[in-house]
Amino acid sequence: MSLVRVHNFSVSLDGYGTGEGQSLEAPFGHAGDRLHRWFFHTRTFRRMQGKEGGDTGVDDAMARAWGDGIGAEIMGRNKFGPQRGPWENHDWNGWWGPDPVFHTPVFVLTHHPRPSVEMAGGTTFHFVDASPEEALRQARAAAGGLDVRIGGGPHTVRAFLAADLVDHLHVVVVPIVLGRGERLWDGLEGVEERFRTEAVTSPSGVTHVTFTRA
Ligand SMILES: NC(=O)c1ccc[n+]([C@@H]2O[C@H](COP(=O)([O-])OP(=O)(O)OC[C@H]3O[C@@H](n4cnc5c(N)ncnc54)[C@H](OP(=O)(O)O)[C@@H]3O)[C@@H](O)[C@H]2O)c1
Repeated sequence: MSLVRVHNFSVSLDGYGTGEGQSLEAPFGHAGDRLHRWFFHTRTFRRMQGKEGGDTGVDDAMARAWGDGIGAEIMGRNKFGPQRGPWENHDWNGWWGPDPVFHTPVFVLTHHPRPSVEMAGGTTFHFVDASPEEALRQARAAAGGLDVRIGGGPHTVRAFLAADLVDHLHVVVVPIVLGRGERLWDGLEGVEERFRTEAVTSPSGVTHVTFTRA
């Protein structure tokens, strides 16, 4: 059976995966770019942007596992874009431009389904109103035997952890305190008992913690 994986998921010391006040101008709310600064200097991130260079240290070694063996992604509607409630129109196709970084089918969980949209480079966004179990069934069927990545945000990763559907979780603990926003761990007391955990601290100041199903 293919695995369900989460990669490069940044959380503040107080457990927030995004700040308060998400908007078009501030996709991570009041967190700004503070959760992801560790990522911007990596070769992996620069390649995603079509750029050369970037660091190849610990952060990149952890970050680059993101795409290997992935055949589909599941994300929450709030990661897909800043709109909330019924869609006013279908003009918004994500933050990632005409050729999104995913290059696989992407299942966007939403209570407001809309027609699928095929982008350049192999990314197709499908909009599904489904339980985590049902969304995973659809993603697996589309993934051609490869693994399924849960792309976030915190609400969605939390739901898949609560349903015990995650096999590998890579959390990046960033030494900042956000104080408000959307927390990853709420309701997940003792979740670590289902996993083997390892941690490595990077010179950049972040700690990479991996949870692998025991
Ligand atoms: N820390 C990181 O590494 C990381 C990674 C990715 C994203 N993010 C950030 O996280 C933020 C978004 O996270 P979030 O926790 O606010 O939201 P999210 O997980 O992206 O999306 C939650 C929304 O998805 C829809 N949804 C979720 N489960 C559903 C289900 N089973 N059935 C139907 N609809 C469902 C609902 O929207 P509707 O009811 O409106 O349809 C729900 O409000 C953004 O700021 C993004 O940039 C952070």
